[in-house]
Amino acid sequence: MMAVPFTDLAAMTGEVWPSIQTEYLDCLLSGKYIGGPAVTSFEHEWAAYCGADYAVGVANGTDALELSLTALGIGPGDEVVVPANTFIATAAAVVRAGAIPRFADVSDDTLLITPATLSEVITPRTRAVIVVHLFGHLQDMTGLLAVAADAGIYVIEDAAQAHGAEWDGRRAGSLGDAACFSFYPGKNLGAFGDAGAVVTSRPELADRIRTLANHGREGGVLHYEHAYVGTNSRLDALQAILLSGKLAFLDAWTQRRIALATRYRELLEGTGLRLTSVPPPASHVYHLFVVRVAGRDQVRAGLARRGIQAGVHYPVPCHWQPPLRQFADHPLPVAEQAAGELLSLPMFPHMTEDQVEYVCEALNDVLADSSAEPELIDAQ
Ligand SMILES: Cc1ncc(COP(=O)(O)O)c(C=O)c1O
Repeated sequence: MMAVPFTDLAAMTGEVWPSIQTEYLDCLLSGKYIGGPAVTSFEHEWAAYCGADYAVGVANGTDALELSLTALGIGPGDEVVVPANTFIATAAAVVRAGAIPRFADVSDDTLLITPATLSEVITPRTRAVIVVHLFGHLQDMTGLLAVAADAGIYVIEDAAQAHGAEWDGRRAGSLGDAACFSFYPGKNLGAFGDAGAVVTSRPELADRIRTLANHGREGGVLHYEHAYVGTNSRLDALQAILLSGKLAFLDAWTQRRIALATRYRELLEGTGLRLTSVPPPASHVYHLFVVRVAGRDQVRAGLARRGIQAGVHYPVPCHWQPPLRQFADHPLPVAEQAAGELLSLPMFPHMTEDQVEYVCEALNDVLADSSAEPELIDAQ
């Protein structure tokens, strides 16, 4: 039996480590761990990669979202639209900023928010929408930006899963007022722990976020002078060194993810599993390779018996999580249905074609196995 892990972070570290080890150890021995040239240089590289003017390194993707909202002046009494199909951090950041999350349903084909589902939940109190490029995929940004512009609301990209993904040739991070990235270890660009960044082309917003993330120190120069009550959410130098090192590999790793996804798509055709569609002009970076299947939990267990680790993103729709139920004021049928069917298959740059083939054979076996009794979903 072949073992197929869900991901393999150590393989990425092994590839990048030779190119960073001297700088990493020098920094470790220098005793200078907060801020400094490694952080500044990664911020410049990351902004340039995303096609934006500024990047501000922060402690994680959740802080990136909360800081962006606060820096845009969003707080008590304001509403922020978030898709119902997302990780809890998207909506939690809105609550932590003091505002109200308004959940929007998602497309049955892409599982992402659409101009129509966004329009449905905009009210006079709406100040922003957080567009989540879930799984590594941007959809109809042209339409979403137009709806937001008409309504006079900010667009914040939650690009935690979409490093390098594009809409019509523009990278995630270059489309909204601000874009929030997570560099959690398992992300396409991942640190040796928690890390994140806000990317924007608005200088005043970048300054404000940098100040808020550094205990309200304006300009970050005077250590004990604080213009605002901020927080402590900074990117560490050691993480920045690793992220710069990994950035040199990111495009190759993304191409590998795309090749593996193409192979999955070929092999899964005709199995009855439902795949998300990627209509142009989007390019998907396959942070996750997600299929939909009824009887998902049995299918996942069948894969586990065959040595394959699959994930579920996410088993409970965001608005059904206990602390967020108070904001769930209308049914969100697509997200609610999908949550019971989503299955994330193994996907990582160092995965082999043999492993993809083994996963697909195993899936066929499990689906044929009467003990699993999955009720297949028709692809539309
Ligand atoms: C869509 C999405 N938004 C936000 C976050 C939060 O990022 P972090 O874990 O770095 O706080 C994540 C990370 O899991 C995510 O996947």
